[in-house]
Amino acid sequence: MGGGKLNTLMHLALVVILIASLFGGFLQVSSSPLEHVTVYVNNNISPGTDMWVHCHSDDRDLGVQKVAFEQNFSWDFWLWIHMERSKRYWCHVWWLDSKGKFIDGTFDMYKGSRDIEGCGKQCSRFARLEGIYIVEGGKLEFAYPWNQK
Ligand SMILES: *[C@@H]1O[C@H](CO)[C@@H](O)[C@H](O)[C@H]1NC(C)=O
Repeated sequence: MGGGKLNTLMHLALVVILIASLFGGFLQVSSSPLEHVTVYVNNNISPGTDMWVHCHSDDRDLGVQKVAFEQNFSWDFWLWIHMERSKRYWCHVWWLDSKGKFIDGTFDMYKGSRDIEGCGKQCSRFARLEGIYIVEGGKLEFAYPWNQK
């Protein structure tokens, strides 16, 4: 085999490796800026207690949803993580306590600035007797109390 032919083969191999690595890098970069996010709002208040949830974003109204004990209301959306840090879903949540008293509050259930890093693709929220808990960085944290009246 002549030296010239070997050189050409090696060049070819280099070019193939270069293209493959560029393409691989491109795929990696292009798959990360868009995230598919699901938010779960769980009724963890008390057995037999229903709750109602009405969530909005700037451009969506998710309607009034009735959620039984230990059930979730969930929704999903695509998010450009570098451009939508201001993305927000807020929910009005209400229920009746054992004396029939109306308890409610309006809370940021999804907030890009907090949740792009805080919960990523799956964002779990729990309504309990004291208020709303959120899972951030894998830990359950108390986030918001109910309205005080
Ligand atoms: C509700 O969502 C949580 C995740 O946020 C999940 O662990 C749980 O199994 C779900 N419950 C129901 C009844 O779907």
